[in-house]
Amino acid sequence: MIWLIGNKDMLGSDVSRELVSRGLTTIGSDQEIDITDPAVIRDFARGREIRWIVNCATYTAVDRAEEEPEAASALNAEGVGNIAELAESIGARLIHISTDYVFDGYGTTPYMEDSPVNPVGVYGRTKAAGEKLALDRCSQVYILRTAWLFGPHGGNFVFTMLKVMKERDILKVVDDQIGSPTYTAHLAEAIASIVQADRKDYGIYHFTNQGQTTWFEFAKEIYKLGLDRGILTKPCTIEGCITQDFPTKAKRPAYSVLSKEKIKRVFGISIPSWQSGLKEFFDRLPEEDLR
Ligand SMILES: NC(=O)c1ccc[n+]([C@@H]2O[C@H](COP(=O)([O-])OP(=O)(O)OC[C@H]3O[C@@H](n4cnc5c(N)ncnc54)[C@H](OP(=O)(O)O)[C@@H]3O)[C@@H](O)[C@H]2O)c1
Repeated sequence: MIWLIGNKDMLGSDVSRELVSRGLTTIGSDQEIDITDPAVIRDFARGREIRWIVNCATYTAVDRAEEEPEAASALNAEGVGNIAELAESIGARLIHISTDYVFDGYGTTPYMEDSPVNPVGVYGRTKAAGEKLALDRCSQVYILRTAWLFGPHGGNFVFTMLKVMKERDILKVVDDQIGSPTYTAHLAEAIASIVQADRKDYGIYHFTNQGQTTWFEFAKEIYKLGLDRGILTKPCTIEGCITQDFPTKAKRPAYSVLSKEKIKRVFGISIPSWQSGLKEFFDRLPEEDLR
């Protein structure tokens, strides 16, 4: 039995879909089983023969985290520690999802799994603390760092861009942050593959779609596909700008490309480009009725 924690939102929905489509017996939970309470998760696990735990639950509000460090930490650090402790006590293997925001973004070449972490904001700091607790408390843990997620369930950059492109004639998008957009369904496939591989190569792995881009270039691709698919029906001029033009509470890494060589080598996973991910996402929109 696989226990998928955080099964209702952006990543969790696609992980659930993927595990079920592979015929893997899965039970899901979300807010109703609060990971910040060790007794609650212990009770939930009792008698269920859980062999794997996949944790997608998280506090993702990057800017709000600057004002609510305790709330972010309760989920991203202590909550993860609780899950790791439980996994260890019941002999389950744990896949925990983390982020490119554990890095400071001053790099210029892809970050490796063992590159030093140095988060520049509260969200990244709490995620880094969660990674450490997971590694300290669970001997059978996979930490999967990812970045720039988009998928049909939950708010994300693609939906925001489509909405704004419908409303405005001119749009400015930052062109000095570099990363790798990642389609949730592709990450979900990687997670399911790790479960099915049934190996013991625990540790930290990186998974994003292949390629790198800026938010501006990503927005242009969204615009092109939006027009092609008839989701956008009027012109919108997209202009590049710099991060300082849109000050935010939380600082973001300027460069957060992750090396994927380890996951490809160890698990034989082949990774599609972010452009393929975006096309597949658009293919799914009518099916998901999310236009
Ligand atoms: N989004 C990105 O661009 C991005 C980038 C890099 C890494 N990641 C990582 O990818 C993972 C998934 O992110 P996501 O964007 O899919 O997150 P998300 O959409 O915000 O989903 C998080 C889930 O956690 C649930 N949750 C909140 N508090 C909980 C609690 N106390 N107990 C149990 N569940 C709780 C949420 O429920 P409610 O919806 O009811 O609050 C939601 O279903 C996270 O580890 C995140 O750090 C995301």
